[in-house]
Amino acid sequence: MYSNPELVLKGAFLESSICWQSPSNIALIKYWGKYGIQLPQNPSLSITLNNAVTKTKVTYAYSTTGKIETQLVFNDGEAPLFHEKINVFLKSILPIFPFLSQLKMTIESSNTFPHSAGIASSASAMSALALCLCSIENKLFSSLSNASDFFNKASYVARLGSGSASRSVYGGLVLWGKYDEINESSNEFAVPLRENIHPNFATLHDAILIVSDQEKKVSSTKGHSLMHGHPFEKARFEQARANMKVLLSALKDGDIPQFIEVVENEALSLHAMMMTSKESFLLMEPATIHIIDKIRFFRKENKVDICFTLDAGPNIHLIYSEKDKHHVKGFIKNDLLKNGLIKNWIDDCVGDGPKIIKE
Ligand code: DP6
Repeated sequence: MYSNPELVLKGAFLESSICWQSPSNIALIKYWGKYGIQLPQNPSLSITLNNAVTKTKVTYAYSTTGKIETQLVFNDGEAPLFHEKINVFLKSILPIFPFLSQLKMTIESSNTFPHSAGIASSASAMSALALCLCSIENKLFSSLSNASDFFNKASYVARLGSGSASRSVYGGLVLWGKYDEINESSNEFAVPLRENIHPNFATLHDAILIVSDQEKKVSSTKGHSLMHGHPFEKARFEQARANMKVLLSALKDGDIPQFIEVVENEALSLHAMMMTSKESFLLMEPATIHIIDKIRFFRKENKVDICFTLDAGPNIHLIYSEKDKHHVKGFIKNDLLKNGLIKNWIDDCVGDGPKIIKE
């Protein structure tokens, strides 16, 4: 779709740099299962976070070697595996950005959140890199001066790096994947949901409750591949679509109980898929289940609108809105932390999306 053999440099230019800060996101409707080149089996919907961000600066200069040349500095050190991943990714997108083989690039990247937090760093890292690449293209060719063209392409490119990264190029609530009732939706890039969001959902918070800081037990690539031939494959993709319909109408009507029901159902369905795939993964820890029970009890007893979602790991994302902030923080500090159920927590909320950093 974006292949463009004309994006080739005619001559040298002065070394320059660009820096983007891009957030992670947490899915409410999960992307789990893909086909072709990074295309989702079902539409997904996420909240873009505010504090969990990757900052990536790319310094680039003209080079005549005819191949991609990169140096990577990650969190002020080396990261050979991540470097390799970036090089493979850059090579794969050469038809989109042919000028990359005419550049020498130094990529400096750092996360504001600890590696151990279990926050999806591929979403923030790949979206930050995609935004830098689109900015470089625009600086060199003035080809992406229209903001909507720019972000559309950045989302498309981010998707090729990591599916969930396509959603991180926008703030607020973001949908990725073709969903017939949203005309502009596509499997190839994400779109922001700016209309039909009731004020009840305008200020969502995400308290990331750290149960374990162990490395991920299953990579996303492996996890997605286990959906091929999964006994519940067809039912899961249908369920995700049905849940999307209910969630979109809950968001529009301000229906909090419906929102809670769908969000928790999606989290547990994701884990149910992993538990029942050919190679089985049990990613929840005893404390995860204990906390889920406590969240449900707290919600019922105190009539506070909180719910949980999960990523592909044991940590819990506690979703609530601004009005319940004090109540929820009390629950985290006086119960979960005090009773040793969590090691730590990260106080995050819905954010406005990526930002260019002037240095
Ligand atoms: C459970 O986007 O990490 O977080 O496309 O292989 O990079 P790749 O997968 P990735 O998968 C995310 C899975 C998830 C759910 C979600 O974010 O929708």
